[in-house]
Amino acid sequence: MDAQQTDVVAFLVRQHAEINDLFTEVTATDGAAREEAFRRLVRLLAVHETAEEELVHPYVRQVVDGGDGIADDRLREENQAKRLLADLDQMGSDHPDFPKHLEILRVEVLAHARAEERYEFTHLTREGDPARLAKMTAAVQAAEKMAPTRPHPGVESATRNLLLGPPVAIMDRARDAIRKAMGEGR
Ligand SMILES: [Fe+2]
Ligand SMILES: [Fe+2]
Repeated sequence: MDAQQTDVVAFLVRQHAEINDLFTEVTATDGAAREEAFRRLVRLLAVHETAEEELVHPYVRQVVDGGDGIADDRLREENQAKRLLADLDQMGSDHPDFPKHLEILRVEVLAHARAEERYEFTHLTREGDPARLAKMTAAVQAAEKMAPTRPHPGVESATRNLLLGPPVAIMDRARDAIRKAMGEGR
């Protein structure tokens, strides 16, 4: 995809759909297939929510009327989702309580995504600078490259281990990649 042609709102809305699909996949599978799908969900959520924290909410504070309150609400939801995700990750996908907790996370994450689309994304599309929105897409793509959300056959085992880290470690790496791509933290 050409980052120049895609603003970050369209990109993140597509990720919301992918997140929804991955929740369905994790729910519908078990055993090794569930574990593999759950790893992809962890990576996608880690990259996605970190990108929103680093890029979207700060920009909403800048350009949207009442943006501070809106961004604070979204950050609260994200922190709650991160806690639930870390708990699920520790629990492991073969734990008997996993489906119940996955469902709690799914409901929270999807409600959060709807609130972002309604209270943030619509405003950014109208009031944001198109060049800046496109640059943000490139930054999310840089973070995605660091933590691929689709299976990569033939990936070296060392890289694979890196990608299997806990959510917080993936978020740290995603944050670094995003800041570097935006020209900060150098
Ligand atoms: Fe978010
Ligand atoms: Fe989101």
